[in-house]
Amino acid sequence: MENLESLKAEILAAIAQAQDLKAWDEARVAALGKKGKVTELMKGMGALPVEQKIEMGKKLNVLKAEIEQALENRRNELAEKEMNEKLAKETIDVTLPIRDEVQGRIHPVSKIYEEVVAIFGEMGFEVAEGPDIEDQFHNFNALNMPANHPARQMQDTFYIPNKNSDDFDDSYVVRTHTSPVQIRTMESKKPPIRIIAPGRTYRSDYDATHTPMFHQVEGLVIDKNITMAHLKGCLYDFVKAFFELDEIPVRYRPSYFPFTEPSAEMDIGCLKTKSELKIGAGTDWLEILGCGMVHPNVLRAGGIDPDEYQGFAFGMGIDRLAMLKYGIPDLRTFFESDVRWLKHYGFNPLDFSSMTGGLSNNGGSAR
Ligand code: DAH
Repeated sequence: MENLESLKAEILAAIAQAQDLKAWDEARVAALGKKGKVTELMKGMGALPVEQKIEMGKKLNVLKAEIEQALENRRNELAEKEMNEKLAKETIDVTLPIRDEVQGRIHPVSKIYEEVVAIFGEMGFEVAEGPDIEDQFHNFNALNMPANHPARQMQDTFYIPNKNSDDFDDSYVVRTHTSPVQIRTMESKKPPIRIIAPGRTYRSDYDATHTPMFHQVEGLVIDKNITMAHLKGCLYDFVKAFFELDEIPVRYRPSYFPFTEPSAEMDIGCLKTKSELKIGAGTDWLEILGCGMVHPNVLRAGGIDPDEYQGFAFGMGIDRLAMLKYGIPDLRTFFESDVRWLKHYGFNPLDFSSMTGGLSNNGGSAR
């Protein structure tokens, strides 16, 4: 019996000393495996006289149960130890600073969007929105372009069939400009109105300065006694702030838009050389937006009495502004999702545009 006691001590010590699951398994096999010490003793019982066999059988069963318990406890300890070591090795220190070289960049369109919102926001304009998929009423009719109006041909429209109607006039469009937001705003708000509506617009066109999807920002001001002088002052302040210049020559050329009367295009002074476009000085002019006094028919379509209220409106291309301000030659590259391009033309996401903190954050001058 002393033998059994010392055997038990020996086996339990081997189990306790196992430092990993491999050593643990060796200890298990040495005791309870096919040729293990306890197994051998059990096999040897067959030769004993009956009484001793019964006694020995009981003792060996108790011993086996104790060993099994010790094995299970040790295995649990080792598994926990192994898991803790693995967790310690795989820890990520989330308190580390971000790696600058993998930082994302802000797309020039988003940057211009931010800049335009910052400038007009400072003047008290709110940002308004409308759907990309429009009905023809909002995109054309209410803007003084009834069916068959020649001005509809000015824009190469993408039409979307209306499942509920075969009538072409009922088909939808992807908006060709942001001007329908003028109508949607008049429908939902009472004057005084002072909004800008930046967003996506669509036309069937594709070359270095045109892409089928592009961005515009619309402006609309409606109140009593609004005149062309308000329009001019507002847009002059805008271009100065936008191009980050104290002074800039501007002129308004008479133009035609169905939704404004009178209509104008605004040009800014610049100098065009073979290699460079310098904004703010020189003998050349660059068209940057369309504008005018809101046509009485448009006010009426929006439910506003033109004898009581007047307004001005303007519209410009955000992508075109980005090309001008940041010297990007081809519009198509804007939408190619090339990270090298974005790295070159993009902006630091932490430099948010504001009128007080800096607009383009590039030292105050266009790149
Ligand atoms: N919707 C015009 C276009 O896409 C731009 C425009 C011109 C908007 C004059 C206006 C405006 O609000 O007054 O070409």
